[in-house]
Amino acid sequence: MPTQVANSFDTMFQQDVYDGLTSHPKYLYSKYIYDQKGDALFQDIMAMPEYYLTGCEYEIIDTHSEEIASLFEDKETGFDLIELGAGDGKKTKVLLRELVAQQIDVTYKPIDISQNAIDSLAASLTTEFPHLEVAPERGEYFKVLNRLKSFTDRKKVIMVLGSNIGNLLHPKAINFLTQLQQSLAEGDLLFMGFDQKKHPQTILDAYNDPAGITEAFNKNILHRINAELGGDFEVDKFTHWEVYDPETGTAKSFLVATEAMKVCIDALDLTITFDPWETIHTEISQKYNDKIVSWLAEESGLRIRTSYSDQKMYYKNYVFEKGNG
Ligand code: AVI
Repeated sequence: MPTQVANSFDTMFQQDVYDGLTSHPKYLYSKYIYDQKGDALFQDIMAMPEYYLTGCEYEIIDTHSEEIASLFEDKETGFDLIELGAGDGKKTKVLLRELVAQQIDVTYKPIDISQNAIDSLAASLTTEFPHLEVAPERGEYFKVLNRLKSFTDRKKVIMVLGSNIGNLLHPKAINFLTQLQQSLAEGDLLFMGFDQKKHPQTILDAYNDPAGITEAFNKNILHRINAELGGDFEVDKFTHWEVYDPETGTAKSFLVATEAMKVCIDALDLTITFDPWETIHTEISQKYNDKIVSWLAEESGLRIRTSYSDQKMYYKNYVFEKGNG
């Protein structure tokens, strides 16, 4: 076991990288893949034919937009549509189009960690929906969540698309859902995408594309450590490896050292060694079914109101409300 050194670093990034790379086995958190380059690579992933998630969720919203709009609508007070991790808003725009067409009273509040994403989304919304009320905000999910409770007095619909919850292990997912539940009032809704269990090969292919985009995305975390923390990772000496366990529904991404290496990270005053074929676990992408989602909901004080699936049954969007039973 490594000696636990009590370190205090300036940023969470430094602390998390230190903790992850001095652990056995080594790990890094996938949230650190996303800088400007990581965001762009994720956009490329969403456009890949193998990455079915985006197309399936688009199909669901497109097919059911009328029904979803009337589920969300509140004829008396209007409602606030709060989207966590809005990104480019491509899927949400389908729903916004429906809400605008039906002249439903709505304020759209997209929230994203990336100022870039928020700025360009706000600009495109002004052009595409000049009469829609938009209140964008930059921020981290969990920090913004606290403020959501007091956002306004009217009905709230919180939306989290893209199966983003899948990047959290179940205990953290329950924690996230519980925080969402606590920011819901009676009558508010939570609309969330969950990628479903399916043929294991389909899942592996989505995270292991032959063009190497997912590999570049995964390796971006090492480039970030090099650029921001003065690391000297020889990134080409790592290979991207994906596994999927059909029993648990967990897809895992690794970076595997192809030879023995020594890596120095200046900002952490740290030197780490890699044995040949030693791993860094970088991401989990959990896959679900109704049973798992029901269990997560129950653990988090939520009730499933309804759900929508694409034709292939690859993906589902669930509508939750407060309360068990
Ligand atoms: C953002 N998240 C839901 C993606 C996923 O499917 O886990 C990130 C991703 N990783 C590799 N490809 C896409």
